[in-house]
Amino acid sequence: MLSEKDFISKPFSTVIENGSFQWSAPSNIALVKYWGKKEHQIPANPSISFTLNNCKTITKLAFAKKQNDSNFSFDLLFEGQPKEDFKPKIQKFLERIEIYCPYLKDYHFTIDTENSFPHSSGIASSASGMAALAMNIMSLERKLYPEMTQNFFNLKASFLARLGSGSACRSVKGNIVVWGNHAEIEGSSDLFGVEFPAKIHDNFKNYQDTILLVDKGEKQVSSTVGHDLMHHHPFAQQRFAQAHENLSAIKKVLEKGDLTEFIKIVESEALTLHSMMMTSIPYFILMKPNTLEIINKIWQFRNETKIPICFTLDAGANVHVLYPENVRVEAMQFITTELVGYCQNGNYICDQVGDGAINFSI
Ligand code: DP6
Repeated sequence: MLSEKDFISKPFSTVIENGSFQWSAPSNIALVKYWGKKEHQIPANPSISFTLNNCKTITKLAFAKKQNDSNFSFDLLFEGQPKEDFKPKIQKFLERIEIYCPYLKDYHFTIDTENSFPHSSGIASSASGMAALAMNIMSLERKLYPEMTQNFFNLKASFLARLGSGSACRSVKGNIVVWGNHAEIEGSSDLFGVEFPAKIHDNFKNYQDTILLVDKGEKQVSSTVGHDLMHHHPFAQQRFAQAHENLSAIKKVLEKGDLTEFIKIVESEALTLHSMMMTSIPYFILMKPNTLEIINKIWQFRNETKIPICFTLDAGANVHVLYPENVRVEAMQFITTELVGYCQNGNYICDQVGDGAINFSI
């Protein structure tokens, strides 16, 4: 079992002057939600997610050797333009990972990043963004320390991504990833995400996620603030215990292919996440009227047609509509005729389960 100290890099004898790497990393959508954390980005409960395929961040990291001083040195470009307001988050990330990657202060970095999904679509880019950056940093570490195994590369990338944004640790690998200790998931850890260890039933192969963009506005409450509110939440302990139970249940579902059970767990998790927000002090609501309209339409359609389509929610108003690949035609027909009218400017994104981060370095 790896512990935090196993991720502290060893002293290097190799000298690398400059170079660049490029990685893409996808977003992910949680089925059992991470909501609440302890110090050092340790989750209060285990979570499990589908890695997505199309919603991703592409990040190029160029590096050049400098005098090792006491500061991090980096420029940040978003879609080719300098982006000062993203810098504090990156600075904080570098500070958090410094002890595990002390070589970072030897270099000046240019981080050049863009998302495949529209800017300010209300889709969180922190998971894909932090995962893409972590992969690049690990590419540099591997140059310095070529003996590293591929498995360690991935685990440490996930470990570092977690320190940027918790859910980012689930974006390194596909197709289904667990983060957080769980008694029945072999190899699971609070420190990094691991691929779901059992064989997944064919029903979940290429599972579809159509993301309905209900509200593109800035969130009133950030996830980080929401996690903090779980500290004094009256239902926190029950919620954390429930997440463990739901993970046990969904593990069986993913192996056996029971779509009815899958829907029950996933929809209940989404509504529980939002009910935690509504019952914290201070309380808040991130769903919009159209979020509820869509949920009701999905329930009605499912009752009438028995097509196994369901929803989940992130910490926002957008709705992820989940369904198996073999009902894609019917589901898309329903979505485009009945649901798209509830989206801001009719916007939605078609995605599906994917394989994780991809290396584009030459
Ligand atoms: C509702 O990973 O964005 O999407 O660790 O503070 O960066 P930080 O939080 P973040 O929280 C995501 C919460 C969620 C549920 C989930 O993805 O499991």
